[in-house]
Amino acid sequence: MSANGCRLGVNIDHVATLRQARGTAYPDLVAAAQACLAGGAQGITIHLREDRRHIQDRDVYALRREPGVRLNLEMAIVPEIVAIAVAVRPDEVCLVPERRHELTTEGGLDVAGQAASVHDAVDALARAGVQVSLFIDPEPRQIEAAACSGAPVIELHTGRYCNAAEADAAAELARLIEGARLAHRRGLKVNAGHGLSLDNLHGIMSVPHLDTLNIGHSIVCRSVFIGLRQAVAEMSAALSRYAGGLP
Ligand code: PXP
Repeated sequence: MSANGCRLGVNIDHVATLRQARGTAYPDLVAAAQACLAGGAQGITIHLREDRRHIQDRDVYALRREPGVRLNLEMAIVPEIVAIAVAVRPDEVCLVPERRHELTTEGGLDVAGQAASVHDAVDALARAGVQVSLFIDPEPRQIEAAACSGAPVIELHTGRYCNAAEADAAAELARLIEGARLAHRRGLKVNAGHGLSLDNLHGIMSVPHLDTLNIGHSIVCRSVFIGLRQAVAEMSAALSRYAGGLP
C-alpha cells in the first residue's frame, strides 16, 4: 500500500493484560480480534513473551484458528517460541528483542550484532511458510543487516520518535524517513510501530513506503471510552489518509 492509505495491524496484547490482571476468562481475545476487524483492521498482532505476562499459548492457537484473522506473532529468538511459531504458522512473525524486566519492547533487534541467529530463525520460519519481519531501529547498519538476513520485511521502531522531546522530534522523524527510503531501496517491505497514537500520527504520515502500522496500547486505552471497534475505526480512518509519505 502507499498512495491510498496504509494498513492497520492492531496489537491486542493489552486486552490480554486486563484478563491476566485478574486471572479471569474475560475479556475474550478472539472477540476482541473480531471487533478490531469490524473496525477496519487488516491484521491482528500479539506478542507471545517468554514470561507470558499477557498473551498465553492458548491465545495463539485460538487466534490462528479464527477465520478472517491475519495473524502477526511478535516473538523473541528463543528456541521454545520459535518451535511454537513453526507449529502454529502464523501469517507473519515479527522478531523482536525481549528483556524480562522491560515494560514494553525497548529497542530494536540488533540484527547486525547477531546475524547468524537471526538468519537461522528467519530460515526456520520461512521454511514453515511464515513471512518474517524484523523490528529494528531506523539505523542504516541495522537496515543493511536486515536486507542480508533473508527477511522480506522490516518494522521500523517508532518509539524514539513518539517519546522524543519537541526539540528532538524532527531529527527522530528524519531518521525514520531515511530508514524507510533505504529499506525500500534494498527491496524490503516497510512496516512501523510502537508508541503510535492519534496524537503523534501526523509526523509518521510523512514517512514514505509504509505498508502497515502496528498499533496497540493507544487503541486499547481509547477503547475504554468509545469501545474497541470504534477506537479501531478511528485509527483506521486516520491511516486511510496516508498518501505515501513526504512532503
Ligand atoms: N510493534 C512491535 C514490534 C511491538 O513490540 C509493539 C508493542 O508490543 C507494537 C508494535 C505496538 O506498540 P504500542 O502498543 O505502543 O502501540
